[in-house]
Amino acid sequence: MATDLSVTFTGLRFDNPFLLASAPPTESESNITRAFDAGWGGVVTKTIGLHPVANVAGPKTKFLRATPESAQLSMKKRPGTALHSSWNWELISDKTLDWWVPRLGRIKKAYPRHVLVTSIMAGSGTDGELAHWQTLAKACQDEGADALELNLSCPHMDRPDMGSNIGKDPELVSVVTQVVKEVARVPVWAKLTPSTTDIVVEARGAFLGGADAISSTNTFPSLPLIDPDTLEFEMNVDGLVSSGGLGGPAILPQSIAKMAQLAQAFPDHAFSGIGGVAEFSHALNYFLLGCGTVQVCTAAMLDHAIGPNVLKQLLAGMQDTMERNGWSSLEDFRGMRRDRVVVHSKIRRPDGEAYRGGYEAEGYA
Ligand SMILES: Cc1cc2nc3c(=O)[nH]c(=O)nc-3n(C[C@H](O)[C@H](O)[C@H](O)COP(=O)(O)O)c2cc1C
Repeated sequence: MATDLSVTFTGLRFDNPFLLASAPPTESESNITRAFDAGWGGVVTKTIGLHPVANVAGPKTKFLRATPESAQLSMKKRPGTALHSSWNWELISDKTLDWWVPRLGRIKKAYPRHVLVTSIMAGSGTDGELAHWQTLAKACQDEGADALELNLSCPHMDRPDMGSNIGKDPELVSVVTQVVKEVARVPVWAKLTPSTTDIVVEARGAFLGGADAISSTNTFPSLPLIDPDTLEFEMNVDGLVSSGGLGGPAILPQSIAKMAQLAQAFPDHAFSGIGGVAEFSHALNYFLLGCGTVQVCTAAMLDHAIGPNVLKQLLAGMQDTMERNGWSSLEDFRGMRRDRVVVHSKIRRPDGEAYRGGYEAEGYA
């Protein structure tokens, strides 16, 4: 049976369901055009804002590695290690909208068939701030952006009305989405933070505001580890650290847990899965839970900055898996395992006696 890797997601056609996530791999025109040449189905630009940002005076991202023969976890470069995670405290693009506008137009003219999603971010504390979302949205779509992704999830924002601080407030999520939808002529994806009690609540806010899809997830709030020799955090500026975001292999199980909640709560809505994807077996988790696209960041950063080899493996892995199972398109297996995540009491007990979730006399979990 012929296999077709192309997908339609929020009304947009993609040659394949793999996108570069909003991050350093998509921070420049040359990276984005290289990514399209490599064959990525789409890219989400590094988040664009209206005002210049200043990053910390030191490295913005490092990679935590594990050693097979010991329990050591460290960012120190050493041979024979396996990647555990990325840790970053990078802000949004240090280039403002004015820098991006001509580049977005040039990219779209040169690659009309490739999907260009622009990630945008502004404050949300006043009507003026909310209007900034509309300015960003209009400018990007006027240059040909195929969709807008709302960054409601950057984990290291001081302002209480920005980034994941919006994503933690379902009403603000709804308001910002609605404000963008008022001017959007293209699909709007809301990128949520995993750092809340119940991501379904914020997703409901986004959908009530009119979001066409949810992207999940951004990085998990975390700290770098302390070096036992120097007693300093492995990443710091003048000895100081601040909460940053964990990505890469370590977050795959946590991110799919979030996605399972989302996909079960909204089985008919569109989801773009993000977190810990480096090969097709990882992406398959998101597809089987119901995602229509998958985004990659950490693995691509470590593979020639835009992940050409990661993409090759994703495409070959998808092709192979579909042929082996007799599937002709993603729709043949999307969501196939969505209903396998159940409450604890629904899991079979060895003696066959029903466990009632701790409510009955037989005892608690
Ligand atoms: C260095 C770095 C910068 C990032 N910048 C952004 C950003 O500007 N906007 C955004 O929405 N997500 C940003 N992210 C989050 C990624 O898009 C992605 O959600 C996260 O890294 C999880 O995917 P991964 O496990 O494949 O890395 C960034 C991640 C990293 C590592």
